Amino acid sequence: MRILVTGGAGYIGAHACVVLAERGHDVVIVDNFSNSSPAVLPRLAALMGRVPAHADVDLRDAAGMAGLFRTHDFDAVVHFAALKAVGESCEKPLEYFENNIGGTLGLLRAMKSAGVRNLVFSSSATVYGAPDTVPVREDAALRVTNPYGRTKLVVEQLLGDVCASDPGFHVANLRYFNPVGAHPSGTIGEDPGGVPNNLMPYICQVAVGLRARLSIFGGDYPTTDGTGVRDYIHVVDLARAHADALDFLQREERCETFNLGTGRGISVIELVKAFERASGRRVPFEIVSRRPGDVAEVYADPALANRLLGWRAELDVDAMCRDAWRWQSMNPMGYAGRAAA
Ligand code: NAD
Ligand code: UFG
Repeated sequence: MRILVTGGAGYIGAHACVVLAERGHDVVIVDNFSNSSPAVLPRLAALMGRVPAHADVDLRDAAGMAGLFRTHDFDAVVHFAALKAVGESCEKPLEYFENNIGGTLGLLRAMKSAGVRNLVFSSSATVYGAPDTVPVREDAALRVTNPYGRTKLVVEQLLGDVCASDPGFHVANLRYFNPVGAHPSGTIGEDPGGVPNNLMPYICQVAVGLRARLSIFGGDYPTTDGTGVRDYIHVVDLARAHADALDFLQREERCETFNLGTGRGISVIELVKAFERASGRRVPFEIVSRRPGDVAEVYADPALANRLLGWRAELDVDAMCRDAWRWQSMNPMGYAGRAAA
């Protein structure tokens, strides 16, 4: 298939491009590089066997998107492009709604005009908010707690309406839990730019000496060691699920929503210890007060993806830490010095 990957220069999108190329698909990237660097492209070329076609276009640019769909005959779209920082979304809700919902509308208009009707969408476990029980199934209550999460839920709902209006339009909503790690080559990985919001990139920057110590947000949660529990999933496992979802859409011709996680919860301290083992570095930490909006424990029930996509996570926490560390130690400042801040 010829696949358009929106946000393909970003963290998860780049890993998905590699997997899609490995499965024999033709990949075209559209990315405005608002949260990524063109320096990823030659590295992708080395992993994919050739320079991926790419367009520096914002999804909200109607003429640019129409031109892209005229130039290429796409069979399907994998839609990663979005802004993703929870804290920033609380400060700049208009930007998040404009970019994430406006961008999706721009994409859907271009798809509609070109008659492209298969879409894989990057959603998030954030749509569950604080779940009543774990593991979380796809039919759990949806209760978003921040503007970023609301953009994900609104887009899922919008896609549901598009599917209802057009029986030939098929969508797989993929709700990611906590993506971490990097390609085993160490040449592509997560490059947050500035102070990382998320745990694994923060640990990596402490281990490599960019930051003095990790602050652990809360040591008094009702969990095994008092720290927050999440379902960390290796980005390469996550990337594979996108190729499986495209196969599902082609085979089953319907819309579905899937959790993507390992099904196993890991505490902050467990992740720190696993990282220390994998890297041979110490990660000094201090326990500070809870981060507002955080929940104690969230992990997935990935049974639906196991059953319908034939997908399951294969890489364990040691592989996640080993590959995150390889990327960080080979690229201490990220792709182009983005980590310096
Ligand atoms: P990322 O920021 O690394 O990648 C997103 C890419 O989209 C960037 O390269 C950015 O430049 C591009 N982009 C953003 N807005 C655009 C626009 N209007 N037009 C064109 N390009 C645009 O993020 P990521 O971690 O790779 O996440 C990918 C997707 O997965 C996002 O939709 C995110 O919300 C979702 N997600 C991520 C996580 C996570 O922890 N990383 C968790 C759950 C869901
Ligand atoms: N944490 C720390 N110190 C840090 C960063 C995080 O102790 O410096 C803790 C958090 O309190 C939490 C755990 O590490 O217990 C994981 O935090 P992350 O910020 O890495 O991940 P979250 O689960 O809070 O949120 C992430 C993404 C969201 C997404 C959500 C579900 O940031 O965008 O996963 O997919 F919505």
